[in-house]
Order: sequence, then C-alpha cells, then structure tokens
Amino acid sequence: MMPDRVAVRDDLAGVVPYGAPQLDVPVRLNTNETPFPPPPAFAEHLAKRLAALDLNRYPDRRATALRVGLGERFGLLPQRVWAANGSNEVLLQLFQAYGGPGRRLLLVRPGYSAHPLIARVANTDSVAVDLDDDFVLSPAAARAAVAANDPDLVCVASPNNPTGVAFGHDVVRALHDESRALVVVDEAYVEFAGTPDVSAAALLDDLPRLVVCRTFSKAWRLAGVRLGYLLASDWVVDDLRKVRLPYHLDALTQEAGLVALALADEVTAHVAELVAERDRLFAALRATPGVRVWPSAANFLLFRTAVPDLFDRLLAHGVLVRDFSAAPRLAGCLRVSVGTPAENDAFLAALADSLR
Ligand SMILES: Cc1ncc(COP(=O)(O)O)c(C=O)c1O
Repeated sequence: MMPDRVAVRDDLAGVVPYGAPQLDVPVRLNTNETPFPPPPAFAEHLAKRLAALDLNRYPDRRATALRVGLGERFGLLPQRVWAANGSNEVLLQLFQAYGGPGRRLLLVRPGYSAHPLIARVANTDSVAVDLDDDFVLSPAAARAAVAANDPDLVCVASPNNPTGVAFGHDVVRALHDESRALVVVDEAYVEFAGTPDVSAAALLDDLPRLVVCRTFSKAWRLAGVRLGYLLASDWVVDDLRKVRLPYHLDALTQEAGLVALALADEVTAHVAELVAERDRLFAALRATPGVRVWPSAANFLLFRTAVPDLFDRLLAHGVLVRDFSAAPRLAGCLRVSVGTPAENDAFLAALADSLR
C-alpha cells in the first residue's frame, strides 16, 4: 500500500507557521501596520493607472520603472535596487542566494521572529547573538559576534523588532568590516526613527557587502500590497535574479509602488503624527507603576510587567497586542503598535484597568 500522505522535509518538521493572531477585535495593535489608511488620492490614481495596464501580458520581469523610481529617492542607479513581494520575500531571496546548506546566518536575539524562520525555509542555519539587557549591541560586541561565528550572512533589523532599538553606523561598520559576510540591515521601521541619519543607506557606497532592506508595509501604509525592496551593490541584484521566480512581482504591485512614489509626501504624511503618538504612549507607560518600557525608534513599544495574564486581560478589553512573554529574554514583555490617538487611549485605559 502506498502512503496517503508525504512527510514534509525533515528540517521543516518542527516549524511553527509564522502567524500573529488575526482577530476581529476593536483595537488591533499587534502587527505594526499604520492605523491610518492610505490617502484617497492613492486609490484614485491607482484606479486610473490599472485601467491602462496590459494584464493579459506578463509584468516587467525586472520591474524597471519601479526600480528607477526607488533608486532616484536614494541617488542610486536601478542596478542597485531590487523589489519583491514584501521585504520578507526580499529576505527569502537573499537567504536563498547567499545562504543554503553549509552556510551560516548570524542574527541577534531578541530580533524579528521571521528572520530565523525565513532562513530555515531557505535551508540556512542561523545562530543568534544575545543583545545586552537594554537590547543594545555595542560595536565591540558586534565585532566579537562575527569573529566567533564567521558568518556568511548577517541580518539585523534596525530599528529592531520587537525592541525598537536602532543600531548605529558604528555597529553596521563593525559587522561589515570584521567579517566576510553579506550584511543585511532590515530597515522596515526606519522612517519612524525621526531622522534619516539612522539609515544605513548612507554607508552603501563605503561598504560593498551591505544590503539595506525597506518596505512599503509600515510608514508607507501599504501592508496589503506586499511590496518591499533593497538597496545594495549591483552584483547582489544580479545574483537575486538567479533565485527569483519568473515574473515574481505582479503588474498591480509594481503600479501601486509607482503611485506611492509619485504621492510620497501624501502617503507618508502621517508619520510625524505617529511619532508624536509613540512619544505620548512612551511617556504614559513610563509613568505607569509596575511597567518598564524601552525607548523606541519605531512605531511600537516593548514593555514589561509582572502580570502573567496581561495579554488576555487586554484582549478582554478588546485590545490586541503582541505577546512576547514566552520568548527568550522577553519574560513578561508585550509589544504594542502605535495606533490612532483613540486606539492608544483605549489601550492605555485597558492597561490601567488590567493592572488594577
Ligand atoms: C523587522 C521586520 N522586517 C520585515 C517585516 C516584513 O515586512 P513586509 O511586510 O515588507 O514583508 C516586518 C514586519 O513586521 C518586520 O518587523
């Protein structure tokens, strides 16, 4: 008798699928999207452009117009820009191209939970170096980590998720200069840092093995579109073309990216308000007895309490946050995304009630 099913790849047997809960509750502050929808002009422009697309034809395999537009924002030629379905797919392609059996990826802990998962899917072993108690990585610790692990790839989110801490240029330089690795800085949240100086993009001409990943999912309010990109040396882009699927980036997504770029100021106009709301939430959490909160350069805050069922208590108030209390180094920690002023007020009220 032949079996009824086929076993998944041995190395995937224990994998838990990625998935923050998608619950239908009044206040959803668990996946770091922007709470404000894109401006109406975005949908209006996109609708006009969609009517002119040749959807019977495959899209531009190289997404040339989009890469030209993205490159112009950073003063880079399109040969140094690559785009895919969300920065998660950009990361998958990077790990497929430069990871694989026998190669090693260095991560930080705590860090973005999808990094080791994507590595595993790409058959790439990862090791994680612990951040210090304030979730900082010093240049000396960065140097020691690459020296001890001799990675082929390094990937850090800056600002980091779930901690909100941004890593300085000195750390990125240390990771790059002390290793032979491709150094990937995942800047999904960098637009919330308050100053463009935080971005490692300024180092691209100095550091040939540096890759900066960005996304339209957060500050650009387009998590539903699935569009991310990277800035890197041109040989990285050439290599990624070897692993991407044919026509991986559909015409609608490419067009949405072009429209967002054309309306960049309007699409990102809410960022200042979100940053102000983050700072308000931070001050409120810091003033709350029994709460420890860490400063954040992103659109979320990590905080710790001694209340073991705080996640459930908040949920009972209709407020969904992200539960990290069982994650390594994060005992008692929850992460709250910055919402609208009304959502943030609802969160603070629910928190006060839950801590009583
Ligand atoms: C650090 C980090 N990188 C990447 C992503 C995924 O972004 P995208 O929607 O572009 O795939 C996230 C999403 O939460 C993130 O936190």
